[in-house]
Amino acid sequence: MNDTTAALRVDAERLRARFDALAAIGATGDGGVHRPALGQDHLRARQWFLDEGRAIGLDTHVDGAGNHSATLACGQAGAPALLLGSHLDSVRHGGRFDGALGVLAALEALQVVKEAGLELDTNLEAIDFTDEEGTHLGFLGSLAVTGALTADELGRPGSGVEVFQAALAGAELTDTSILSAARDPKTIAGYLELHIEQGNRLNAAVADIGVVTGIVGLRRQKVTYIGRADHAGTISMTDRLDAGQGAAGLMLAARGMVMTAFPDSVVNIGVIAFEPGAMNVVPERACLTLEFRAPVAEDLERLGVVLKSLVRAEAKSRNLEAEVEEVDGIQPVQLDQRAQGALAGAATRIGLKQIAMPSGAGHDAQAMARICPAGMIFVPSAGGFSHSAREFTEWDDCVNGANVLLQAAVGGL
Ligand code: GLV
Ligand code: MN
Ligand code: MN
Repeated sequence: MNDTTAALRVDAERLRARFDALAAIGATGDGGVHRPALGQDHLRARQWFLDEGRAIGLDTHVDGAGNHSATLACGQAGAPALLLGSHLDSVRHGGRFDGALGVLAALEALQVVKEAGLELDTNLEAIDFTDEEGTHLGFLGSLAVTGALTADELGRPGSGVEVFQAALAGAELTDTSILSAARDPKTIAGYLELHIEQGNRLNAAVADIGVVTGIVGLRRQKVTYIGRADHAGTISMTDRLDAGQGAAGLMLAARGMVMTAFPDSVVNIGVIAFEPGAMNVVPERACLTLEFRAPVAEDLERLGVVLKSLVRAEAKSRNLEAEVEEVDGIQPVQLDQRAQGALAGAATRIGLKQIAMPSGAGHDAQAMARICPAGMIFVPSAGGFSHSAREFTEWDDCVNGANVLLQAAVGGL
């Protein structure tokens, strides 16, 4: 790499202006954003991204899975593309940095390369993947690109078939179009993603950049406890079959079990609903989501087995029925050594303090690692907060991350 290329940096003010414009789409008024995948504000954010790409002079396209791309033909004709990106959807009432920073830094990197008139070994593509957060089906867009999604999985989305199909129709997508989005790995040179850390390791290490070594695997299930609806005032405490008690028992037992038997893993019950759902009716059904994560595949598998037996045990001890439905999930991965080296080298060139670290959050890089060299970097999250409006990263840290992404992209893998 020559000195001019090594000196290339992002335009921090331009990046900031775009960051603020994007954060206004679906803004919740408390610093956060609410852009669940395929909802109106998410679709508006994606359109805005395409418009920005076109205004820069990039080519844009949307694939069958709804992934939005802006591309720069800076390589030889027929050269593979190096993908840079993340996602523009958010969790419900989430933060404005999660995913957005990676997409905007990718767009900025392409603009810098275009303005510098660089010729690289690869073409560049800034990509915004569909539904990373799993509003409907986690990592839908990136998994579709890898060809790993199946019709069976599309048939059991976390949001329910009706809601999912309506959302797809609103975005002019279908199961068939999603399954057609698989790309030939030979056309992809690699995938690099900048993301906020969403935890506290970088703060603890007083480091600027985390070079991600591997990403935890996760699985999501819907668990339903079934009891009997009764008059809450007249049925005795001993005679009632309260489905809610199964859910409550599971919440406590799962936490205790994971903390003692799987210290590197986590479990979360983030959604719960009682039916019929009235103050004066004993719950007949308690429906909850169970999400668990582990850094290695064997632990994820074992944890799934132990949790399933806990679900059953909590039901049995209360004379309830229990059903478990698999929703989605993704295997843990180790990220590519060459990609880690390219990102670490870029951070060193820029003079940033870096550490190598694993990710406890899921990311599109995890899916892309199935078909190409994939790498990720993190920048610090103030207080470690994420998936809430409190999510915050100092602007200098955002710019550092964008510069590492740019430098890794121009250096190649
Ligand atoms: C994605 O943000 C996740 O839930 O890890
Ligand atoms: Mn994210
Ligand atoms: Mn997230």
